[in-house]
Amino acid sequence: MSQNVWTEVDNYICGLLAPNDPALQAALKASEAAGLPAIQVSATQGKFLYLLARLMRASNILELGTLGGYSTIWLARALPPKGRLLTVDANPKHTEVARSNVAFAGLSDCVEFHVGPGLAVLPRLAREGRGPFDFIFIDANKSDMPEYFDWALRFSRPGGLIIADNVIRDGKVLDASTTDADIQGVRRFNERLAAEKTVSATELQTVGSKGYDGFAMAVVLTEA
Ligand code: DHB
Ligand code: MG
Repeated sequence: MSQNVWTEVDNYICGLLAPNDPALQAALKASEAAGLPAIQVSATQGKFLYLLARLMRASNILELGTLGGYSTIWLARALPPKGRLLTVDANPKHTEVARSNVAFAGLSDCVEFHVGPGLAVLPRLAREGRGPFDFIFIDANKSDMPEYFDWALRFSRPGGLIIADNVIRDGKVLDASTTDADIQGVRRFNERLAAEKTVSATELQTVGSKGYDGFAMAVVLTEA
């Protein structure tokens, strides 16, 4: 059982339950054509994020890590009328590709793009009084994940949901002596998540077309 089976099963489930429609297909194609790394969530994972946002009845969503806007489109589709999604990416090229993909998906009116390193943009959003958010998706550079989690706590409403991608990394997360800054970031994130008293959290391992990885899920408690 390995990558081939995971990919085929993912394609099978995707074909049944999460087919990429023309806007999502175009977003993937344009991202590839622009030379963006193909590290966006899979279609089944995108549908999962969409369903979580629906469950939360999220009308304010914050996404860290726009890339080509693929998960942005899934999440923005879960918004009610007048809902809003803010997405942040350090790379202006990512943002331009995403802006065009989101426009093609007909979602420009509800998506706001912010360009700059997360740890520069988030304090600015705080100064501007943005938030609170119902749903926060952390999927940017892994080395700053613990700090992104701190910001997510600050920006979340009571009862809000925080999801972080890539918390398992092929099991590399077990390696306490790793020198890889990304894995160190994920490990520090996991430790911070475990120590945080104001959330109830778990992590789910996933396999599929994107390999072996996982999502963290934290619900911000209404009474701390
Ligand atoms: C990487 C980042 C991601 O968000 C992801 O889902 C997979 C890989 C990366 O930086 O390698
Ligand atoms: Mg990711």
